[in-house]
This record gives sequence, C-alpha cells and structure tokens, in this order.
Amino acid sequence: MVVKKVAVIGGGTMGSGIALTAATHGIHAVIVDINEDQLARATDYHTKQLARSVSKERITQEEASVATAHLSYVSAMADASDADWAVEAATENIDIKKSIFAQMSETFNKDVVLATNTSSISITDLASIIPDAADRVIGMHFFNPVPVMKLVEVIKGKETSSKTTASTLELAEQMGKIPVPANDRAGFVSNRVLMPMINEAFHAWADGVAEPEDIDSIMKLGCAFPMGPLRLADYIGLDVCKDIMMVMYNGLEENPKYLPSAKLIELVDQGYFGDKSGRGVYKYDKG
Ligand code: 3HC
Repeated sequence: MVVKKVAVIGGGTMGSGIALTAATHGIHAVIVDINEDQLARATDYHTKQLARSVSKERITQEEASVATAHLSYVSAMADASDADWAVEAATENIDIKKSIFAQMSETFNKDVVLATNTSSISITDLASIIPDAADRVIGMHFFNPVPVMKLVEVIKGKETSSKTTASTLELAEQMGKIPVPANDRAGFVSNRVLMPMINEAFHAWADGVAEPEDIDSIMKLGCAFPMGPLRLADYIGLDVCKDIMMVMYNGLEENPKYLPSAKLIELVDQGYFGDKSGRGVYKYDKG
C-alpha cells in the first residue's frame, strides 16, 4: 500500500520531524495539535529546515516548494480524517496517549493503521483502550532529529496484525528510513540500552567522577558518540529521560537499576528540561 496522506498527532519535536520527513518523501502530512503555538513552532521549523536544505543545495527551491505544499496544520483531528495513515507523537504519558487513541479510532477509517511514536510504553497496553482496532495499533519509534536519523524501531503489540506490520515496514521505507523490529517490553531496545547509560552519566556527575563537560568529552572522544550522554539528555529533554526511566522501572519488575538518578530528578524538579527550556545540564542561548 502506498501511503498518500499521514496524520501526525502532536506537533512537538518528534511530530514536526515526522511530518517534514514524510513531506520531503512525497507524502502529504497534516499535523494535528490543539496548541496553536505548537503548530506555529512546527511551521517555523519546517520553513527553516527547507530553506537550509536549499541553501546547502541538498534540494532545489522547487522541491522545497513541493514539500511545503505537502504540509498542513490543523487543531481538530476531524480535519485530518481523510488521512490513510495516522501516527501519534504526543507526550510520553499513557493516559494522554490512551485518550488520543480512543479519538483516533473514532476519527479515521476502519482500515487506517494507528501507529504510536512512543519511546517506551507498551503497545499492547495502549491498544487495550480500543479492543476492536487493536490489530491496527503498532509502535513506530522515530529518533531525534527525525529527518537525519535513519532508524525506525517497529514494535508489534499482542494483537497487531501481520498486515499492519507489513504496511508499517513499507511506510518506513517510503520515508527513507530503515525499520528494525523490537519486542514489546518497556523501553524496547533503543531506550533500554540508551537511557541507563545516560542515567549513569548523571550518577557519575553526582559522584564527582568528572564535570559534565568532561564526562561528555570522554564519551565523545573515547567512544565516538556524536554527543556526550549529558548533552544528549538535554537534547532529548530531561523530563523525557526521567519519564522513560520510570516507564522502564514500572514495566520491568521495578528493578531499581531503572530508577532515575537523584541528579536528573533534581534538575527536572527545578524546571530544567534541557534545550527546550533554555537550561538543563547546560545553559542554552534560546535565540
Ligand atoms: N532537523 C533536521 N535536520 C537537522 C536537525 C534537525 N533538528 N539537526 C541537525 N540537522 C542536520 C543538519 O541540517 C546537518 O545537515 P547538513 O550538514 O547536511 O546541513 C546535519 O544534521 C548535522 O547537523 P549539524 O552540523 O548542525 O550538527 P552535528 O554535526 O553536530 O549533528 C546531530 C547534529 C545530527 C544532532 C548529531 O549531533 C547527532 O547525531 N547527535 C545524536 C542524536 C541522537 O542520538 N539521537 C537519538 C536520540 S534518542 C531518541 O530520539 C529516542 C527517544 O525515544 C528518546
């Protein structure tokens, strides 16, 4: 099945990245977000990224205009009901996601795949809110920045049909991504491996092993990471890192190794969420 129009529920960093990637691969993408400011930020991000791609001569001005024409922004899900694919990219909170899925199953046609970009929440649990459509629910986990990162982690829930899986793999490829399967255990593969490493960097900082800059330099220069773990935590969002650790803690037999470090919790409690709030482990110039 060739997907022509994707509805992306949530216009934050991940949702706007997914929409841009779809649009630059010839797929119409409509972002649905009740927050008008979020829609404005998504529009601005798309305009700037397409202009940058033109200035870098990766695409022509004409291709950028075609991509722009493939993007739209709405605040009511009903205005995206003609999409032939839907992917949810909202806050990493099971209750919020469940209520969005209930609405998605009401809004879209009965053959539309209902994917989630969750980074850690159980697909089976999420699908349980819409038992009649559970066969169409699947995890489609993109990575930030979406236009750059090649991976899509694909996670089947207990009820996910083979038709849903096959068409998800196809869509990922249509979007220029490489899909890789993972099983439905909290954190899947990517965050099961990545987040404890990031969390350990916070422990190392709190234990006085080294200052954040040095922890990051050691991991960049010694392990060839593009960003050190603390810089990456800011980039992902410290609140998101904490939430993912808690999902793994609760979902993996409350194993204490998945508890977020006190240092990470302290920063989140202070409202230091990383790049998006101008301060996390490091301070950022918001301009
Ligand atoms: N959108 C689109 N393109 C972007 C972008 C964005 N937000 N950010 C960077 N890029 C592009 C730039 O345009 C540039 O392309 P160009 O050179 O052709 O113009 C290219 O990426 C490199 O960018 P920069 O030169 O600005 O900077 P860097 O070379 O330092 O690369 C980076 C930036 C790609 C973010 C790199 O540092 C990196 O790969 N970091 C690690 C990112 C990572 O690990 N992501 C996964 C996070 S985990 C996750 O998402 C899962 C979730 O569940 C938590």
